[in-house]
Amino acid sequence: MWPYPRILAHRGGGTLAPENTFAGLRRGMDFGFRAVEFDVMLARDGVPVVMHDPYLGRTVSGAGHVFDYDGLELARMDAGSWFGVDYRAEVVPLFVEFAQFCKANGIWMNIEIKPARGFDVETGETVARIARAMFADELAGGQLAKLPLLSSFSFAALEAARRVAPDLPRACLMSELPPGWEPLARSVEASAIHANHRHLTPALARAVLDAGFGLFCYTVNEPARAAELLGWGVEAFCTDRIDLIGPDFGRKAA
Ligand code: G3P
Ligand code: MG
Repeated sequence: MWPYPRILAHRGGGTLAPENTFAGLRRGMDFGFRAVEFDVMLARDGVPVVMHDPYLGRTVSGAGHVFDYDGLELARMDAGSWFGVDYRAEVVPLFVEFAQFCKANGIWMNIEIKPARGFDVETGETVARIARAMFADELAGGQLAKLPLLSSFSFAALEAARRVAPDLPRACLMSELPPGWEPLARSVEASAIHANHRHLTPALARAVLDAGFGLFCYTVNEPARAAELLGWGVEAFCTDRIDLIGPDFGRKAA
């Protein structure tokens, strides 16, 4: 069973704000969202930052890689102009500040550990250690549904997260479920599979659920497709179209 919110704003505020920014979180809140997916990687000095690409140029003005700059340097860089001039004040968020904002505003987090190549273990450990410290009270109090869910395409990152924070839930991101997906997911003690909806079938959805995993899909932007996936038993998904698919999408009226 999926104990978390069912509909998440992807990369902060989907495509209605610059991705992975505070403006995105605020936009999501405007649309009633209190659940979010975002991406985290490490700066040169090991400080985790909220970014999707391991290089600058697409959403962050500048050139080079995330590991060419310290965290505080990135935290001054423009991460909003690419989206529109009104967003030029947006900077690369520090993970700690971003997560604190979410927690303070009751926004549940699916934290995607997104290591730059070669930084899998370090990134998994860092994110998990910080998240665990931030949610120590919830862990001690057994408030499991409030814990952030750590997901990654990287098994090395998930394994590192498991080692430093075994009691934080983990999810395997899998674009296409490979043969042997189940032992792979069990090897990192994942509680959920996060699958690309484009490659999912009703039979695969059933197999994941029957094996006892939570089932989440990314990134679902059409209401008809979202309804179809929920019909297959998909328990949750993230969306870029927070304007078309609201946080209560698909919930039957009582
Ligand atoms: O976590 C779901 C989804 O965000 C994975 O793909 O590339 O959008 O980070 P990507
Ligand atoms: Mg992501």
